Amino acid sequence: MIELQEVSKTFPGAGAPAVKRVSLQVKSGEICALVGPSGCGKTTILRMINRLVEPSSGSVFIEGRDIMKANPDHLRRGIGYVIQQIGLLPHRTVEENVALVPRLLKWPEGRIKERIEELLEKVGLDTEEVRKKYPYQLSGGQMQRIGVARALAVDPPVMLMDEPFGAVDPIVRLRLQDEFLKLQQSFKKTICFVTHDMDEAMKMGDKIAIMNGGFLVQHGTPREILAQPANSFVQDLVGEDRGVKLLDLVRVETLMLPRETGTANGRSVQALDSAKKALEVMLEHNVDGVTVCREKQVVGILTWETIKTYVHQAGSEAGG
Ligand SMILES: Nc1ncnc2c1ncn2[C@@H]1O[C@H](COP(=O)(O)OP(=O)(O)OP(=O)(O)O)[C@@H](O)[C@H]1O
Ligand SMILES: [Mg+2]
Repeated sequence: MIELQEVSKTFPGAGAPAVKRVSLQVKSGEICALVGPSGCGKTTILRMINRLVEPSSGSVFIEGRDIMKANPDHLRRGIGYVIQQIGLLPHRTVEENVALVPRLLKWPEGRIKERIEELLEKVGLDTEEVRKKYPYQLSGGQMQRIGVARALAVDPPVMLMDEPFGAVDPIVRLRLQDEFLKLQQSFKKTICFVTHDMDEAMKMGDKIAIMNGGFLVQHGTPREILAQPANSFVQDLVGEDRGVKLLDLVRVETLMLPRETGTANGRSVQALDSAKKALEVMLEHNVDGVTVCREKQVVGILTWETIKTYVHQAGSEAGG
C-alpha cells in the first residue's frame, strides 16, 4: 500500500504550494488514477512518492514504512517509474534502455538478456526487431511500450506512471491501455497512474483521485465519482454523459430481471455485456427491453425502465 498523509509541497521561491495537504491511500494491487488539469500537482505527487521531490510537510508510507527513513536508492529500486515524455535515453539502444536498472544492480549479463526478451515480449514488441534500435527509430507506441518495459525491469511491487500513454494517437492508446490492464491482472502491482484524460482514468483506475490546484478534490471508485461528483469541477471533468458512462461500469446481469424463457422482442445481449451495450441495442432498434442470454441460454430481461431507475438512483445515492 502507498499512503500519503497530509502531504504538502511548496517549491522554493513559489508563492503558492504545488500540493496542499493531500491524504491518499492506494491499496496493494490496485491502480489509482490521478487526474486533473495541467499544473495541478500530479507529477509532484508521484515524485514525492519516490523521493525525487521532498515533501515540505506530511508523510509518505509504502507498505507501512515511512519513506523518509528508507535509503533513497533502495526505495527507488522497488518503484518502477514511467516518466512523462517517456524519457528514453536517446543515445542508447532499446535493450540498453531497458537494461538500465538491472545493470545498475549488477545483474549477470545472461540474466539481463533473458529479462529484456521477456519484457519486450510482455509489452507486445518483437525483440529482434527493436532491440538494437535507437529511440528516434521507433514509433510513439513502441517508445511508450519500452518506457513501460523499462519500469518493469526489476519487477518492482510499486509503479508510478506519469501519462504513460500520453503521446500516441487515440487508437494506439486504447490498445496500450487494454494490454496494460491485461498485464496488471497477473502483476497485481500497486500503481499510481497519472493522466489528464478522465476517460482514461475511468478505464484504468480501480480508484480515481481528482486534483485541482494542488488539492485532492475527490477520491473514489469510478462509479462513486460518476454517481456523486463532489463539486461542479468534478462534474465538468466527468462530462455531461455521466449517466451513460455509469452504465459502462455495470454489467447487464447485475440489473436484469431473471427469467428463463421467452424472447422479449428478438433483440438480445449477453449477461456479461455492459448495461451501456444494452442501452445502445435498445436505442438502435427502438425497443424498450432486451433479452439477456448466457451463451445461447436465455437468463433474463433488461428493460429501459430498469436502466432509467438505476441511473436515477445512482445519481442520488452515496454511490456505493
Ligand atoms: N521543480 C520545480 N520547481 C518549481 N516549481 C515546480 C517544480 N516542479 C513543478 N513545479 C510547479 O508545481 C506545480 C505543479 O506541477 P506538476 O508538474 O506537479 O503539475 P502536473 O499536474 O503534473 O501538470 P501536467 O499535467 O502539465 O504535467 C506547477 O505550478 C509547476 O510549475
Ligand atoms: Mg505532470
